[in-house]
Amino acid sequence: MQRRGPTRRLAPSILSADFADLAGAIRRCEEGGAGALHLDVMDGHFVPNLTFGPALVRSVHARTKLPLDIHLMIDHPLRFAQPFADAGGSTLVFHVEASDDPTETIRRIHDLGVGAGAAIRPGTSFDRLAPLADKVEQLLVMSVEPGFSGQAFRPEVLPKVRAARAALDAIGSTADVSVDGGITTATAPAAAREGASFFVCGNSVFVGGEIVENLRQLRQAVDEGAAGAVR
Ligand code: DX5
Ligand code: ZN
Repeated sequence: MQRRGPTRRLAPSILSADFADLAGAIRRCEEGGAGALHLDVMDGHFVPNLTFGPALVRSVHARTKLPLDIHLMIDHPLRFAQPFADAGGSTLVFHVEASDDPTETIRRIHDLGVGAGAAIRPGTSFDRLAPLADKVEQLLVMSVEPGFSGQAFRPEVLPKVRAARAALDAIGSTADVSVDGGITTATAPAAAREGASFFVCGNSVFVGGEIVENLRQLRQAVDEGAAGAVR
C-alpha cells in the first residue's frame, strides 16, 4: 500500500550511551543508519533526574550532521529554548504539561529557526496534543514515565499513537509521530503498526555495545510492524 507521511527514522537516545565515549557512540549510530540523535534534557523538577545542558549538545553537534532531537523534560521550556537552538538542536520538543501556553511556546521555538515538537506523558490525554497538530513538526507520545531510560514500554499508549497519526493525516501534515520509552525489537512493531514514524531507542541500542547490529534489528522490527499497518 502506498504510504503517505514521513520517512520512518530511528533516533538513538544518547542517555544510554557511554558518556566517556560519546564520539564513538555517535559514529556507530551513523554507521548503523540512525536518522537522528535524541538528547534527553532533565532538570530535576519536571522529572526526578538530572542530565545535561546546551554544552553537551554543542559537543555532539560538532561531531555529527545527524539532526539533533532535543527532548526538554524541564519546567519553563522557553527559558532554555534559545541556548539549545544555538547549540545545534534541530527540533526542540517540550512537554505540554510544563507549558502554560503551548501554542505560544511553539511560535517562539519556530522564531528561533528550529523545529518544534509537543510531548505528553503516558497519563496525559491526547486531547492536549490534538489542537497542536497543525503547528508542529513532531507529536511525541511518551511510552514510559519520563525520567529514566531502561523502563518497560506501556502498551496502553498505543491508541494515542494512532490518534496522533490520524490527526496529522487528516490535515495533510507529514509531521512525525514519535514514541519514546521502552522501544525494543519486541515493542517497535506495534508502535510502527499504529503509525509511529520516529522511534527513540535508548537501552535497546546501547546495551551490550553492539550498536550497529542493534540498530539493524530495530530497523527490521520497525519495517515488519509498518508492513502490517492498517493505514
Ligand atoms: C526517558 C527518556 C527516553 C529514554 C529512552 O525519560 O525520554 O528518551 O532515554 O530510553 P529507553 O529506550 O531505554 O526507554
Ligand atoms: Zn526522550
